[in-house]
Amino acid sequence: MSDWPSHGGRPEQLLPRFGLAGDNEIIDFSANLNPLGPPVWLAQQLAASVAELALYPDPDYREAREAIARAEGLPAEQVRLTNGGAEAIFLAAALLASQGVSRATIVQPTFGEYARACRHYGIAVEHVELAPGSFALDEASAAEAMRDAAALFLCRPNNPTGTLLGREIIEHLLAAGQHHGATLVVDEAFVDFVTPDERLTPLLARFDNLLLLRSMTKLYAIPGLRLGYLLGSATAVERIGELQPPWSVNALAAGLVAPLLADRDYLARTRAWLDAERPWLQGELEALGLDVVPSHANFLLFRDAHGESMPALLAHLARCGILARHTHNFIGLEGAWLRVAVRSRLENRALVEAIARWRNP
Ligand SMILES: Cc1ncc(COP(=O)(O)O)c(C=O)c1O
Repeated sequence: MSDWPSHGGRPEQLLPRFGLAGDNEIIDFSANLNPLGPPVWLAQQLAASVAELALYPDPDYREAREAIARAEGLPAEQVRLTNGGAEAIFLAAALLASQGVSRATIVQPTFGEYARACRHYGIAVEHVELAPGSFALDEASAAEAMRDAAALFLCRPNNPTGTLLGREIIEHLLAAGQHHGATLVVDEAFVDFVTPDERLTPLLARFDNLLLLRSMTKLYAIPGLRLGYLLGSATAVERIGELQPPWSVNALAAGLVAPLLADRDYLARTRAWLDAERPWLQGELEALGLDVVPSHANFLLFRDAHGESMPALLAHLARCGILARHTHNFIGLEGAWLRVAVRSRLENRALVEAIARWRNP
């Protein structure tokens, strides 16, 4: 594994590599967070609930789980609240290990924590790689994984490509898995950004070998709060409840779940922003000769159409006060691509202008 930071979003870890001070003023395109920022009412609500710190949270998080269940159209027994999407990933791996799963396949390039979580629980990891450039999935090799291994992890839409696997492929994989006793774990951390709504929740009614992982971090721009959840069959969720440390989510974060999900206006404003900004940014990047992967998420992956060095562009952008996400630790990308979050028009324009200066110094 490379010595590059394994996640985006901490400029002080990357800037010294380019001879820059870690506290340099920076526009951060390396973490895929909603640029609208957390809903405005959130800080006040947090302050108003500080008294709850004196009490243990409800160990079952009933209120939060019921709010999620209502939003997802599921019984609360199929919902587990987690400490961010990251804990949901580790709980999925813990569940698999407790079921005796010893090998899992991961569709790559993707978020690195699936492999880390599997290894943490003693599950050997294999990979199925998406086709270079198009990032299409070879369905046959994925289906094979649902036969040979007892679990397949994939991310939909996928970080870092932004691509979205078709629902039919997912159904085929689930049916194969049902037949061979394999579980499909789908990380939908970025599904809130997909329009029209493509979440796989309805499939839970037909497939008890499906686990869905969610993060509230990206949409609500709350990486420091740590909120996520896991959806699955009532049996799987009950078992996961036994594996999860008690009070894993703090009371203040848990108390925000229902009001966050109820804020439909925030979601509408987010969708309006993304519908306008993503095509604009993609068009501007393409006009600068970059090869941009069409994205269903709030970020774009690109490389130079003529093979110019992306690490060189990463360094140039850092000197311009812009942090992009390197791809050195994504299997199959190995630094040849960059990923940027879609941000506000002003910030996106700054990114485009900085790339234009790299093209024409
Ligand atoms: C695909 C994916 N899943 C899960 C996570 C973790 O989310 P959280 O911050 O809610 O733990 C991330 C964070 O970058 C991610 O990219």
